[in-house]
Amino acid sequence: MSERLEEIAVKMVADGKGLLAADESTSTIKKRFDSIGLESTETSRRDYREMLFRSDEAMTKHISGVILFEETLYQKAADGTSFVDLIKKAGAIPGIKVDTGAKPMAAFPGETVTEGLDGLRERLAAYHRAGARFAKWRGVIAIGENRPTWGSIKANSQALARYAALCQEAGIVPIVEPEVLMDGDPGNHSIDTCAEVTEKVLNTVFADLYDARVNLEGMILKPNMVIDGKKLRQASAAEVAEKTVKVLKATVPSAVPGIAFLSGGQTSEEATAHLSAMIANYDLPWKLTFSYGRALQEDALNAWGGKSENVAAGQRAFTHRARMNGLAALGNWKKELERAA
Ligand code: 13P
Repeated sequence: MSERLEEIAVKMVADGKGLLAADESTSTIKKRFDSIGLESTETSRRDYREMLFRSDEAMTKHISGVILFEETLYQKAADGTSFVDLIKKAGAIPGIKVDTGAKPMAAFPGETVTEGLDGLRERLAAYHRAGARFAKWRGVIAIGENRPTWGSIKANSQALARYAALCQEAGIVPIVEPEVLMDGDPGNHSIDTCAEVTEKVLNTVFADLYDARVNLEGMILKPNMVIDGKKLRQASAAEVAEKTVKVLKATVPSAVPGIAFLSGGQTSEEATAHLSAMIANYDLPWKLTFSYGRALQEDALNAWGGKSENVAAGQRAFTHRARMNGLAALGNWKKELERAA
């Protein structure tokens, strides 16, 4: 595996490939397992992730890298193979979520700031030794009455920039993820409000990345799509694509090699359709792809249901979504292809 930041970043957004966000924290994966009535234990978490990472076709053809939670980075498959080796054997790059979560921001009711900078230099060195070559940090911005405030945008943006600089010092490509939520409170904001907020957030983030001396060629941006609130959801795929591309073109320097979207609560098919619409219809200065959590995993989780006899069904579901998103990353997804599972 190449060690230059720029080369790792380019590999992360290779043609027709994207990232699998499997970095749910212990509390988030518990929520996902609750939905299928499965207890979250170290073993059930291992079994679930092993099912995904052993989906050979998905992993070798459509997944360029996997974002892991710390527990998984150091975990082994049932036969004793480390997950890091399993992922590398599939030709994908292991990555690691390094933030410690969005915490209530003092003096800013209803807003959060993401923590995890203390001791990060030492943790990054250990993660690099364990095989991680990229990292993720997610700042969270919620749209609501009189929100987001400038204070919360700035605090989250500066944390992202400090994190990104530390990653690059450690030889790790930072995924910079400033997520404007589509389900803030009340969650019925228009797509134009999302566009306005996303533009302001991305402008702030790139100014702070510059001030922090981050090498833009050695990072990946992971933004939300520009989309209306979860309780509204009227925008067509064409409108989401048009408004997302417009905001990104206005804010993201072309030195950034790739943009890998989060799915953020869109349905699996919506997330695929939106990505494909952008790539098929616009001339873009960066690679666009997916870095989905829920939109890659939901069908697989449901097909598996926590039962060993359903591992093959779970892998089929995951492979299908990975293939659909791989096609989307080339701008070649069509609704008719969804049926040919
Ligand atoms: P979703 O695609 O489920 O939003 O998750 C991606 C992610 O990594 C959020 O931090």
